[in-house]
Amino acid sequence: MNVGIIGSGGREHAICYMLNKSKKVSKIFCFPGNAGTDLIAQNVSLDPDNFYKLEKYCMEKNIKMLVVGPEKPLVNGIVDHFNDKSIKVFGPDKLSSKLEGSKIFTKKICQENNIPTSKFKICDSLNETLDYLKNSYFPLVIKADGLASGKGVYICKNFDEAKTATEEIFKGKFGVAEQILIEEFLDGEEMSYFIVTDGKNYKFFGSAQDHKRIGEGDTGKNTGGMGCYSPSRLLNDKLELKIKTKIIEPTLNAINEHGGTYKGFLYVGLMIKDGEPFLIEFNVRMGDPECQAILPRLKSDIVEIINNTTKNKLKETSIRWKKEKSMSIVLCTKGYPGNYKKNLKIDNLENIKLEKYDKIFHAGTKFENEKYFSNGGRVLNVTSLGKSFILIRKKILKLLKIINWKHGFYRKDIGWKEIKKNANYKW
Ligand code: AMP
Ligand code: GLY
Repeated sequence: MNVGIIGSGGREHAICYMLNKSKKVSKIFCFPGNAGTDLIAQNVSLDPDNFYKLEKYCMEKNIKMLVVGPEKPLVNGIVDHFNDKSIKVFGPDKLSSKLEGSKIFTKKICQENNIPTSKFKICDSLNETLDYLKNSYFPLVIKADGLASGKGVYICKNFDEAKTATEEIFKGKFGVAEQILIEEFLDGEEMSYFIVTDGKNYKFFGSAQDHKRIGEGDTGKNTGGMGCYSPSRLLNDKLELKIKTKIIEPTLNAINEHGGTYKGFLYVGLMIKDGEPFLIEFNVRMGDPECQAILPRLKSDIVEIINNTTKNKLKETSIRWKKEKSMSIVLCTKGYPGNYKKNLKIDNLENIKLEKYDKIFHAGTKFENEKYFSNGGRVLNVTSLGKSFILIRKKILKLLKIINWKHGFYRKDIGWKEIKKNANYKW
């Protein structure tokens, strides 16, 4: 079978790598892909948000299944577009994708179903928001309602910061804003928990802890994610039961009641405080870089999981995992998440020797004139599997030293809370 994958990041290279391992796959097409996917698939420079063009291309190339990496095409209704076509698209429909596309939609679902999340207030105008903020205690979190590529969230320490955030949002920094979301600040430790669901049944699809801040010790600006390890140190049976019964099941039921069809991955972004899970956000896709750490641990055939999910047969599908742990560290271009240059040459990739459990997933890269160049802020994801996070991290850092990219930087402390717990390890 010919399959397609939409996206161009590390997540999509990791999915592509798993698709390529399946005996059921003949050829893979990436829309648009990167220099890593180019090695195992055909990159196609076509705007995947143009569903008609995409459909035409898929028909021509006999592509039978499309996997959607990022949220935007899902929120824009790609699944609904292909609903009556012969091409199966793996992902939730437009209504279900509002779980990521509208933070206010999700908060209302939480409220109606007693799902644990931070207390919140929705305001309809700048003046209403400012009046509310004048009588509030800080810190507070202010969020734009719609998709904002991870940038529409402001953690505000005082009224002035909150005022700036509110003005930026209502002035349209993240698109037309009719409402704004104000949230209580949650203290705790974050965890990413994943499931795959066919709308009726769901199965665990890995856990991870992402490090979103730019600086070591989890300090500085928020990024798309600087690295992660899997499984999360926070996960245990008791907590997992609470996540399933208090958050996942009521949400899937609510989506069904709203008339949505959720088939695909669901990313449950949680804050864990004193053993209790609080929902921070849902994403209607795999995480990036979580996917790059989780997928190499998957033993089962990803195509079988995807195929069975689209056919409502997830219940009878077994999903098996390797017992090894994993980590992925992101190599970024200097300047990220602020301004950074593109088209910077990356040497040493051709010569690097990877062992069985090592993997380099490309993100912002391109291959021109027989050379690799950067093409984004997050450039490479170096992943490895092993028995202990200390050893895995050592291995990844060794590989990053060999790559020795002079235009890049990376965090050396991924997994620090978990690693600090063990022995007297220094980093
Ligand atoms: P979101 O895009 O909603 O996941 O927010 C991005 C990041 O902001 C999260 O990963 C958290 O680190 C932080 N964040 C969001 N909401 C809250 C909250 N209510 N309390 C504390 N931190 C938050
Ligand atoms: N790792 C954060 C995200 O995928 O949104």
